Amino acid sequence: MPEIIPPASIIEDARPATNPRLLSNPEKDRLIERGFLGLYRWYVARSQETRNWNADKSFEWRKIRTDFNPEVTTILEGFFAVEQYAPDFTSSILNMVRRSHGRSHFTLRWGSEEERHADTWENAVLFSRGRTAKQLEEYKYLLRSSQWESPWDSALYNLIYTVFQERATQLNYLNLRKVAMGKSEKPHLQGNEDPVLAHVCQMIAVDEAAHYNFFLECARLMLYYYPEETLEAIRDVIVHFTMPAYNLVPDWDKFFEAVYKGGIYGPRDFQRDVVQVVFKNLGIASRKALEEGIRRTRLVPTEAGVIRGTAIWDSFDYGLVEGDVRRLYGRVQEYEKGIGFDTVDPIEFHKNPLWPDETNTENTPLESEKAGD
Ligand SMILES: [Fe+2]
Ligand SMILES: [Fe+2]
Repeated sequence: MPEIIPPASIIEDARPATNPRLLSNPEKDRLIERGFLGLYRWYVARSQETRNWNADKSFEWRKIRTDFNPEVTTILEGFFAVEQYAPDFTSSILNMVRRSHGRSHFTLRWGSEEERHADTWENAVLFSRGRTAKQLEEYKYLLRSSQWESPWDSALYNLIYTVFQERATQLNYLNLRKVAMGKSEKPHLQGNEDPVLAHVCQMIAVDEAAHYNFFLECARLMLYYYPEETLEAIRDVIVHFTMPAYNLVPDWDKFFEAVYKGGIYGPRDFQRDVVQVVFKNLGIASRKALEEGIRRTRLVPTEAGVIRGTAIWDSFDYGLVEGDVRRLYGRVQEYEKGIGFDTVDPIEFHKNPLWPDETNTENTPLESEKAGD
């Protein structure tokens, strides 16, 4: 019986296009998508269990004080102005992520939480008698005559932007809470204590913290599977960062001045309490280290056409990132096991073979690869 040899074309077709030691982009995308999906389902369950509040019914609106300092009213009105673009934030981003189940469904959930922030800030302005219903009606009309559009046209850049934006927003609300608790260091904002406003700031800030954490986990997954692209996106987003809708709100300068002079938020806060916090959470030592790492990254084309960065590993703590990604999988696995997903669609952590590892020297960049950069 003659030996059966498959035609060469079959062997050629079966040969992977990329180095078999590495994950192909479609494989990485599939892993990321499964991670996003698991995280999104975990998030929704947690949101419903622990943060299921309502803009109208969760606050004692009749008891909010009606004599806030005008700067406080300007700040409340500005927060409302930004948050009321929630439908634009959601629709603009939704189109970019619509092919991802996890990210697109999360965008709807996120939008619904941002929408209740807008309603809550509006209630705060209205019930504190800062503006009349008529003034707010006209203001809304003016705001809605402009449409917010994402400053970035890529799903990755939007994700990274939102990480920084959510943290910055949370910081704004926590600092206003200090004013409402009588803890402002600014003399002109003293005497604005109000338990209802403190409660509002607290509830919304907790939502913003949850948003920050969700987007941060997603960014970490991207960093784990696409380190070079993600680090570059981080660098670019910081350089161009502005708060959302700054160019749409008609009296933005007045709002920004009130926020800045009130010690609520400013460029220093962005560097110290936003950038540095995100960097710490992603294992990035500093902006200089990030820029230097990207600059020094040598792209080495391998025999299979795979591009492999080397100096990139010097720019962040990759061990920390992998540990955090593993923890994320652990959390999602535990959640899904509680439902029974482990019996029908188990989620597994897949190590990125490119990742340097003390226990896997094969993947650690060689000294020779690092040299000359
Ligand atoms: Fe918000
Ligand atoms: Fe948010």
